[in-house]
Amino acid sequence: MKSIVILISGRGSNMEAIVRANIPGARIAAVISNRADAAGLAFAAARGIHTGVVAHADHCGRDRFDAALRTAVDVHAPDLLVLAGFMRVLGEDFVRRYAGRLLNIHPSLLPAFPGLHTHARALAAGVRVHGATVHFVTPALDGGPIVIQAVVPVLPGDDENRLAARVLAEEHRIYPQAVRWFVEGRLAAEGDGRIAVAGARTAAAPPRHYPPLDED
Ligand code: GRF
Repeated sequence: MKSIVILISGRGSNMEAIVRANIPGARIAAVISNRADAAGLAFAAARGIHTGVVAHADHCGRDRFDAALRTAVDVHAPDLLVLAGFMRVLGEDFVRRYAGRLLNIHPSLLPAFPGLHTHARALAAGVRVHGATVHFVTPALDGGPIVIQAVVPVLPGDDENRLAARVLAEEHRIYPQAVRWFVEGRLAAEGDGRIAVAGARTAAAPPRHYPPLDED
């Protein structure tokens, strides 16, 4: 059984999607937030999942916050640490400690639009397709090896909210899939910064997810 700790900062809908996926061989050991008022904590607690808060406001500087977070995480000896809308940048030491077992979801087709306000920036750039990326975390912000991406169209009349909602629906599909692949031991670093997914199918028709979801 693989132990998973999920870090959130707010709504927690990606965390919820992963919990609801009931991934065989995985146990959600804890959901930890850097904000006591994160809405997602209530969902996790209601499911009987251990919840915790490590408030960044209580720790002076990133190093101290990272150290407190590390302590809270390591109690659960996670095989995988999942950042799901976790809005703090983690320091290099923290990231290196969990190298190869630290996933993040970012609401753009990386390497396009790293950082914040991705949907507004995509609209301003006039891109025709947008999406989301699950990637392993490295010290380079939003720059780690890509596991899976989902593509959505940018439609006439879209505003930031409509586009964000379309992307979020895909986030809820690809994040549980990426976690499932990790738990099944199907993700392998290729050595050139790319990730191979063992047994991933090549789709006959263009899929919306790259690689295709197992159920596509
Ligand atoms: C998601 O769009 C995620 O990609 C981004 O922040 C948002 C978090 O949403 N990093 P939620 O908390 O998972 O609902």
